Amino acid sequence: MSKASRVMPVTALGNPNRLPEKVLVETGTKAGWYRELDLAPLGRGHLSVVRGMTLKPTYYITTPIYYPTADLHIGHAYTTVAADALARFKRMQGYDVLFLTGTDEHGQKLESRAREEGVSPQAFVDGIVIRIKELWRLMGITHDDFVRTTEKRHMDVVQHIFAQVFEKGDIYKGQYEGWYCEGCEGYFTATQAREMDGHCQDHERPLQRLQEDAYFFRMSSYSDRLLEHIRENPQFIQPESRRNEIVAFIERGLEDLCVSRSSFHWGIPVPFDEEHVIYVWFDALSNYLTGAGYPDDLARFERYWPADVHLVGKEITRFHAIIWPIILMAAGLPLPRQIFAHGWLVLDSGKMSKTRGNVVDPVILIEKYGVDAVRYFLLCEVPFGMDGVYSEDALIARLNSDLANDQGNLVHRTVSMLHKFLDGEVLPPGAETELDRSFRERILATPERMGSLFDAMEISKAVNVMRELASFANKYIDEAAPWALAKEGQKDRLATVFYYLAECLRVLAIVSSPLLVETPEKLWSLLGLEGNPRSEGWSKAQEWGVTPPHTRVGVSEPLFPRIVDEEKKEEKKQPKVPQLTMKDFQQVEMKVGTVKTAEAIPKAERLLKLTVDIGDEVRQIVAGIAESYRPEDLTGQQVVVLTNLRPAKIRGVKSEGMVLAAVDDGIMRLLVPDGRVEEGSKIS
Ligand code: MSP
Repeated sequence: MSKASRVMPVTALGNPNRLPEKVLVETGTKAGWYRELDLAPLGRGHLSVVRGMTLKPTYYITTPIYYPTADLHIGHAYTTVAADALARFKRMQGYDVLFLTGTDEHGQKLESRAREEGVSPQAFVDGIVIRIKELWRLMGITHDDFVRTTEKRHMDVVQHIFAQVFEKGDIYKGQYEGWYCEGCEGYFTATQAREMDGHCQDHERPLQRLQEDAYFFRMSSYSDRLLEHIRENPQFIQPESRRNEIVAFIERGLEDLCVSRSSFHWGIPVPFDEEHVIYVWFDALSNYLTGAGYPDDLARFERYWPADVHLVGKEITRFHAIIWPIILMAAGLPLPRQIFAHGWLVLDSGKMSKTRGNVVDPVILIEKYGVDAVRYFLLCEVPFGMDGVYSEDALIARLNSDLANDQGNLVHRTVSMLHKFLDGEVLPPGAETELDRSFRERILATPERMGSLFDAMEISKAVNVMRELASFANKYIDEAAPWALAKEGQKDRLATVFYYLAECLRVLAIVSSPLLVETPEKLWSLLGLEGNPRSEGWSKAQEWGVTPPHTRVGVSEPLFPRIVDEEKKEEKKQPKVPQLTMKDFQQVEMKVGTVKTAEAIPKAERLLKLTVDIGDEVRQIVAGIAESYRPEDLTGQQVVVLTNLRPAKIRGVKSEGMVLAAVDDGIMRLLVPDGRVEEGSKIS
């Protein structure tokens, strides 16, 4: 958008969360020349008004800002690629998009990391931030702004809000004492610390007892207002399971939050008390305002705020859905429209973490498979909102089945047959048969279906709709059998079939543009079309007959070559799992049990604590099934228990056995007997 943009103070015209039906638009250079415009057709959103009367609804999307403690891994790329796909989609729909990402550069952990490396914290983060920006370039990320929390513009914003909330009386000075984890940069209550056995499992380090003079944020007095907001705005926290968790958490009562530290110095100073630095989450969350130009660039701020969606990983939902809205309420600012929490990308061996040394480097994957393959996998493999398992095998399988087989093959078949039967020319279509009609309808329905799925944050389902169109088109080819038409000399039919296929590929190039960054354009030029699919706009995919007749297609090269994993082939020759003798197997004792109670374990999102009746005794068992089962659905459920497993403590909770389950794509399914049996029945 040009500098000549004019933004109407829409907030002055009504509820900023709702687009007014009519707005006054400045129509000339002279102040006071206004015209009334009807906005109803634009739907939800706020808007920007460009001189010359162009109206665009705005869309503001953010990613969390990443800790530059080490290079980012595929899990971080997951959030950013998802946000990028949504931003690209909204731009293609004609929205004025602000897509923000950045880095969260303060805090004790960073200070310690820099000390270990013998450099200043600033020098330490600078090096990593360069690599993060390079990663986003490699992945085709189209962020409009990148906030580093060590930038002056951001530090000014944070100090401004802190001072504002202090003056209002919602920040006050007190004494803090608690159990602190350097990794989480957070304190735990005494009960939490006890449950955790004084040890943070996530960061594999002991909790430290710390005491300090500190400033507190009066969160406790905002519980009711926040609950009311959440209840009145069901879309505010999504998915629903996360909203329920947050509501339950707030209902237990909020405590005031310690929002300053004096035990280290790498942070933004409290503006009126330089001994203290501002709590890193207060600092980090405010980046969403910095990116929107608050408080100096009010034109920008009114244009984009409130944000449409903050995309976050599920582990940081509480910060975004509780602390952040309360900061905004205290500062008198409107709340974001949505906080959407997605799941984790995990490995077979568990969570990815630098400490465990099992992180997957996206740069290596891009070098091996190309950026589009990696983006496609991330967007398609895991239902957005759920956890999913990453493996290179799964990536290769996806690549081969969806991209090489379905889409690549469709393009290749179409273009080579066009050359073979029609000299590479897309001729005007003839009469439409029933088969063609259903194909056309399917093609034209695809953008709308994908669009509403994107809007509902169902990204993987949207990708699926695109994939289904490619398989449908492959079936269309099989049924239309162009080779037979050519043999019979039915040139008119051939012209129609290939016109429909060319239109299908044109639509596929457009609808794949939010997801992929290289292939859509390659496909576009192969189709002999002018311009590029990105600038076509989403609505162009909903129009029929756009390919100009007599267009000549190019020569097809595989868009997605099939991957043959040589190493894998070798491995497959030798069985990896050692074989057991009957005697070995007899050492394993498994029994049928019935779940008596099931409950969540605090701070352990994937675990449930079960008590299971196994006939002669009741065992307590910790099971990693919380992502797939709700505790209340498990009572009375029969399960298979490995009973002679050595007892262990998991997250500080005793576990005497293991409940057996199958894992399919990250989803757990309990193994159960095919009919009710007596507790304690042996499995043999
Ligand atoms: N700095 C905070 C966020 C502050 S936002 C105001 C932070 N940073 S982080 O670098 O640790 O993680 C950022 C985000 O990366 C997570 O919220 C999550 O979205 C994403 N992921 C990190 N590992 C992930 C997976 N293994 N899988 C999916 N996403 C994960 O938290």
